[in-house]
Amino acid sequence: MTINEKLLDTLNKQVTAEQQAALIYQQLAYELSSLSLTGMSTWMAAQADEERVHAGKIADHILARGEHVTLTNIEIPELSVTSALDAFTIAYEHEQKVSEMIRNLARVADEVQDFDSRTLINWFLNEQIEEEDTVGGIIDQLKMVGDDGAGLLRIDARLGAEREPAAGPLQ
Ligand code: FEO
Repeated sequence: MTINEKLLDTLNKQVTAEQQAALIYQQLAYELSSLSLTGMSTWMAAQADEERVHAGKIADHILARGEHVTLTNIEIPELSVTSALDAFTIAYEHEQKVSEMIRNLARVADEVQDFDSRTLINWFLNEQIEEEDTVGGIIDQLKMVGDDGAGLLRIDARLGAEREPAAGPLQ
């Protein structure tokens, strides 16, 4: 059950990277709020929550195999956001970086012939395809509407509705 040292280090770095992604999405949520794009802000904040779930999945795997989770310093790059397109482009470029990290994780697991982590890593490989596709699709739509405020607000409303938590019973 123990994990090869190089793989453990790579898995731990991925836990930190997912937490970093969560903070980047959270920062983007704040920036979109500043631009009064509240639906997109909700979407980004939900994405931040998802990244924390990703970190938890890898952390749980490390712990289940009797190892320690070790977080390292997390730096948040300075993000310059003056439009929705800026925010989603930053998200997309970051997802591409994460995808490359996941591919590297798969390479290391193969190199040390770690079969136990394969299901987890395959889940992440698929997840990255989905994430890049989703964010890429939003970017396409943002480019289509360009400076059309009405179009932008329609996308904002749709993304907000997608991620708004379902209304619970009235208290
Ligand atoms: Fe955990 Fe968006 O990648």
